[in-house]
Amino acid sequence: MNVIKVKDYDEMSEKATEFMVDRINSLENPVLGLATGSTPEGLYQRIIEKHQQNEISFENVTTFNLDEYVGLEQNDPNSYYYFMNEKLFRHVDIAIDRVHIPNGAATDLKKECMEHERAIEQVGGIDVQVLGIGGNGHIGFNEPGTSFTSKTHIVDLDESTIQANARFFNSIEEVPTQAVSMGIETIMNSKEILLLVSGEAKADAMAKLLNGEVTEDFPASILKKHENVTVIVDEAALSGV
Ligand code: GLP
Repeated sequence: MNVIKVKDYDEMSEKATEFMVDRINSLENPVLGLATGSTPEGLYQRIIEKHQQNEISFENVTTFNLDEYVGLEQNDPNSYYYFMNEKLFRHVDIAIDRVHIPNGAATDLKKECMEHERAIEQVGGIDVQVLGIGGNGHIGFNEPGTSFTSKTHIVDLDESTIQANARFFNSIEEVPTQAVSMGIETIMNSKEILLLVSGEAKADAMAKLLNGEVTEDFPASILKKHENVTVIVDEAALSGV
């Protein structure tokens, strides 16, 4: 893993933007894997600015999101569909039929998982996957214990994940207990991965990632086996290393 150390959240977002603008401009038909959560918000904001300054276009870009909560309709303000639309898609020139976010409200969720997987294969795989990390080491919504050979699947969320994400909901009872998530193998099949990590709340996870062994008990550890991973991490997230 190529680890780039930065001062703070803003610098992480700046560097991540440079990285993504370079890939969007150099790939002919970029296929991007995108993440939600607070971590990539600064990146998406800056990407919108670059688009407004005519430095990038999404005309030839296809996107696949990592995950979605089970049971939330697309117009639910807590759905990841809504998040992506608000934070990025409605501000750029992307064709809506090139946007792929699993539908967590689908009646046949298994079919939904298979279709997400098939759509990724159909375009020849993901060129660059943006990732955040959960405090427990999850990537996407792949919680500790998830098989490294998993494909897009339905997952039960950890209690710690439900608690961490409760800040976005009116009460913890409203947080869905399940999600659809790209699997770990799906993520690992991406040609390149950009992991963004910021803040003290991620210090333990970062220490485990850098110093620990590769184990299914800590899903992000598999990234050490991928040949093209860049980690942009700030000082606070490195405070436990
Ligand atoms: C969420 C998402 C992940 C995200 C992670 C960290 O639950 N499913 O894709 O990377 O948790 O979130 P945050 O960036 O808000 O810390």
